[in-house]
Amino acid sequence: MDFLDHAILSVDNALRTLSGQSRGSGRPNPAAEEPDSLLRPWERRRAGRMMRVNHAGEVMAQALYTGQEAGSKDAELRAALRRARSEEEDHLRWCEERLQELHSRPSLLGPFWYATAWGMGFAAARRGRGSNLGLVVAVENLVEEHLKEHLQDLPLEDERSRRILEQMESDEVGHAEKAEELGAEPLPLPLRLAMQGLSKMMTRGALWI
Ligand SMILES: [Fe+2]
Ligand SMILES: [Fe+2]
Repeated sequence: MDFLDHAILSVDNALRTLSGQSRGSGRPNPAAEEPDSLLRPWERRRAGRMMRVNHAGEVMAQALYTGQEAGSKDAELRAALRRARSEEEDHLRWCEERLQELHSRPSLLGPFWYATAWGMGFAAARRGRGSNLGLVVAVENLVEEHLKEHLQDLPLEDERSRRILEQMESDEVGHAEKAEELGAEPLPLPLRLAMQGLSKMMTRGALWI
């Protein structure tokens, strides 16, 4: 029964994530009040490529959190992972909306990003609560660093993308802090290296593919 529950959770999340049917916590898009003042076509294309990377990152966040929940038997931890995942769904939806506004598209490698990140989340969860939470901290710290870079590199006038990334950054910091509070332990080296490798592959690959 457990196995079946986890399989349904994972397949349902994968399908919703990859088909743009995320529900989320219902928070409004933080860019809603911001006029779209990014006018130059080449800058819209550049911002579109950057938002595609951020969108792919959020696809991976869905997969990681789902894999981590599926691989854990700890009810308190699973509830915490679910709460963070619902905020990540907001991020996914906001990135989707911005991609559409910029006439860009999600990465064609979405299923690959999803499958590899799910495997990594599941593997960390099987190592126990400390590693499971350790993965949250390691991933969220990496995402925070990446978002800081994107906030600097975005075209100056792109306030709409900037509002979204700022809210995401603040949420990611909160997710890492919560995981620390709940007892995160440093991630074993092989998992840390795999996570860093996958993140590099994604931030480069999703720019173009
Ligand atoms: Fe996120
Ligand atoms: Fe997060």
